Amino acid sequence: MAQVLDGAAIAAELRGEVARAVADLKARHGQTPCLAAVLVGDDPASHVYVAAKVRDTEETGMRSLEIRLPADTSEADLIARVQALNADNDVDGILVQLPLPAHLDQNNVLAVLSPEKDVDGLTEVSAGRLALGKPGLRPCTPEGCVILARRAQADLSGANCLVLGRSILVGKPAAFLFLAENCTVTIAHSKTRDLPARCREADILVAAIGRAEMVRGDWIKPGAIVIDVGINRVPSLKTPGKTRLVGDVNYEEALEVAGAITPVPGGVGPMTRAGLLRNTLRAACARRGWEAPGMI
Ligand code: GUN
Repeated sequence: MAQVLDGAAIAAELRGEVARAVADLKARHGQTPCLAAVLVGDDPASHVYVAAKVRDTEETGMRSLEIRLPADTSEADLIARVQALNADNDVDGILVQLPLPAHLDQNNVLAVLSPEKDVDGLTEVSAGRLALGKPGLRPCTPEGCVILARRAQADLSGANCLVLGRSILVGKPAAFLFLAENCTVTIAHSKTRDLPARCREADILVAAIGRAEMVRGDWIKPGAIVIDVGINRVPSLKTPGKTRLVGDVNYEEALEVAGAITPVPGGVGPMTRAGLLRNTLRAACARRGWEAPGMI
């Protein structure tokens, strides 16, 4: 039976560390880091996510600035708002909630976001710094994946890591972050040949392909660390008309084979939210020339 990697508990530890560091910075410098969240339009899920991020930010003692813009906001207006936040010396981190309404080009908006405030790690500069192994802000979800994997095995050096998925938010940055842990990294995707066999070679399997329960128990190497990034809504087995959340891995099957596994929900998701707080703190320290606190 696999060890269950409790992302909710580890994220709570991380939030505690951020809160202590924020209090310490306040005492030493008399200033409080600030995260600005930009939300365009009426997507209900995005409203829930942003509300949660604002609540988390304030609970750790940081300030938050919520900028809600109507769904018909023009690209020029949104870009002007982001530029104003870049220039605002009181703002340390900026997140533009994705997806944007269809008439707005995410690339054009991210192109103007200051890399020093890019707490999602989504700008070209942040991605380039990650690829080159230079210091910078890293995307929160794949950083959470690495922290969880290291809870199962402190030294990941030499492990075969297979990342299933190649998105800019998770798959690609996860590959670079596990490479930085000295793993031998493979990126697999929907066109990879004989996916089950490739997966069975992995000591660490990061599933981020967005297909409900695609990874079956017999795809997993016995004893492997399985990190499930998927969040998929499927019909409830018990109650008709209701839904439940499942990952990209068949959890019940994987639990029997893996050495360690993240649950869905309660695995990677909470780590993403906590990572955003940590990045805001890091961005504040780097920008204001404060010594960054050591954290998980
Ligand atoms: N939409 C879904 N996930 C994310 C995320 O991590 N950051 C942002 N900005 N938008 C998202």
